[in-house]
Amino acid sequence: MRYTAQLGFVGVLFKDFRWAKEAPKSEMPLIVSTWHTGIKANRAAWDDLAKGGTAIDAVETTAKVEEADPNNQSVGLGGRPDRDGHVTLDACIMDHKGQAGSVAFLEGIVHPISVARRVMEKTPHVILAGEGAKQFALAEGFVETDLLTEKSKKEWKEWLKTAQYKPVINVESHDTIGILALDMQGHLAGACTTSGLAYKMHGRVGDSPIIGAGLFVDGEVGACTCSGLGELVLKTLGSFLVVEFMRQGKSPTQACKKAIERIVAKIPNYREAQVGFVAIDKHGRHGAYAIQPGFEYALKTTTQEIIIKSKSYL
Ligand code: GLY
Repeated sequence: MRYTAQLGFVGVLFKDFRWAKEAPKSEMPLIVSTWHTGIKANRAAWDDLAKGGTAIDAVETTAKVEEADPNNQSVGLGGRPDRDGHVTLDACIMDHKGQAGSVAFLEGIVHPISVARRVMEKTPHVILAGEGAKQFALAEGFVETDLLTEKSKKEWKEWLKTAQYKPVINVESHDTIGILALDMQGHLAGACTTSGLAYKMHGRVGDSPIIGAGLFVDGEVGACTCSGLGELVLKTLGSFLVVEFMRQGKSPTQACKKAIERIVAKIPNYREAQVGFVAIDKHGRHGAYAIQPGFEYALKTTTQEIIIKSKSYL
């Protein structure tokens, strides 16, 4: 019901809606973001990207829109907490030269994606985690903020009544936010940000801050990011796998499909979870594939602004 209403709303607003397929021709620049909320987020980066701005700036700007939205309970401010009531954030960013930065298990900072970018640009490391990541963020001028909103707190208190750990198959709303962009210079970049699995064990880190799992970019081939249950992506190094399939000549959709087939072949309980990959190649072709129906991504180019619904294994 809610899903139908959302699609209807998007359809009215953006007039176009279709199943995932390869882009008919190369379009540069372009930006894709997971889920329907990506339409609004992509717009925040578009003007700059269309004027020749960089893909790395575009993916950071887009991620920040999602992180700052308290109604988006899968990332940043308002993210659902772990089972002990802590909102812990994972994010990573990567550019066409293979430079990467990441934060894991970060608390109290609204924009983990920007901290990840500082890790990439200002440290000799790739990943900073937990208290160390927070101290780095504070030293860089980020402000500590209570990320647990009243809405997320109320839902968590309700969950505590049974405290049953059961990951939800998210097919109808949104989840981890992944963003990929190709700029007018032909450079690729990607970003990925999440508050992770709701009511996870304290200390759990998902796929999103792990380069090659939640995100991978190879400037000479393509880029991939994903949404869904991180444990399945971690065990198959999903985004790296998709880029490697593109390197072997597969289209973005074919590459995403093959990575989903790898999960299906290797992980017995895949039916209980959702994973959706979205990819673009260096020519600007894009595509997606998921385990379950319902995965979608928002595409923006100079000629299109649409939600594309992914095909799925099940
Ligand atoms: N994909 C996000 C997570 O599992 O944490």
